[in-house]
Amino acid sequence: MASLAGASKIALRDVRQVFRVRAAGDRAAHEFVALDGLDLDVREGEILTLVGPSGCGKSTVLDLVSGLSTPTAGAVEIDGRPVSGPGLDRGVVFQQYTLLPWRTALGNIEFALEAVGGRRKAERRRVAHEYLELVGLTDFADRYPHELSGGMKQRVAIARSLSYQPEVLLMDEPFGALDAQTRERLQEELVQIWRRTGTTIVFITHDIEEAVFLGQRVAVMSTRPGKVVEIINVVLDRTSGDADIRSTAEFAAYRHQIWGHLRQPAPAYRAEVHRVA
Ligand SMILES: Nc1ncnc2c1ncn2[C@@H]1O[C@H](COP(=O)(O)OP(=O)(O)O)[C@@H](O)[C@H]1O
Ligand SMILES: [Mg+2]
Repeated sequence: MASLAGASKIALRDVRQVFRVRAAGDRAAHEFVALDGLDLDVREGEILTLVGPSGCGKSTVLDLVSGLSTPTAGAVEIDGRPVSGPGLDRGVVFQQYTLLPWRTALGNIEFALEAVGGRRKAERRRVAHEYLELVGLTDFADRYPHELSGGMKQRVAIARSLSYQPEVLLMDEPFGALDAQTRERLQEELVQIWRRTGTTIVFITHDIEEAVFLGQRVAVMSTRPGKVVEIINVVLDRTSGDADIRSTAEFAAYRHQIWGHLRQPAPAYRAEVHRVA
């Protein structure tokens, strides 16, 4: 049965993630608390942006949701079921380009569809073309990754992740390596793609403007240890076009609000590194 619109698609409950680390010149193992008491709900069909400073634990959260790691404590659930590993219900797009260099743009998408299985070659090709069209790269189908710009490579990566129709798209600073103009264009395109596909998107960024522009809700993370400190509902009048909303007073107010959360003075240094007994 289809989930109710707005129902919780992804839930993280009281999540704690501890890494064992070894300090230089110290042979003893220490525990580093990356996340502690982290709660987050992602609603079906929304774009939720997760914003926070570098090192606060954003990628750690994404690894948990994608199933690449399991939490030290707490629960990570999709549709009410614990995440037990990676799955085709979740597509992931990373900051670093992850295309196969020996495959064309089209071939990279076909490769993902081969891995998923269940479709004949001609059908894989048709679907790959369809998703290249979705990201505006029809004319670049036969180009190899080294013949594509950074923005184009990320478009292919997005098309590849969407081609097998995951229910959730997880994006970890996917536009972080792009120049400002390309980044803004891809943000606008992503909103359009989201409107067309209805995919639930979790988008991670350290860029406040990006978080406000893309997110229907913005989850603000603090550091040491990482947890969600605020959820902000973003209500912007997008009728005059996506590009214009960045210069509105409302947009500035949201940006300011999030900035305020992130620039709170860090609490007195608390030992987040504990010696392992
Ligand atoms: N596998 C790991 N082992 C030890 N420490 C880690 C590991 N992964 C992440 N960390 C640490 O956890 C913290 C959060 O990392 P990360 O989730 O990558 O932050 P962000 O994505 O917000 O920049 C950082 O201090 C990082 O050094
Ligand atoms: Mg990261």
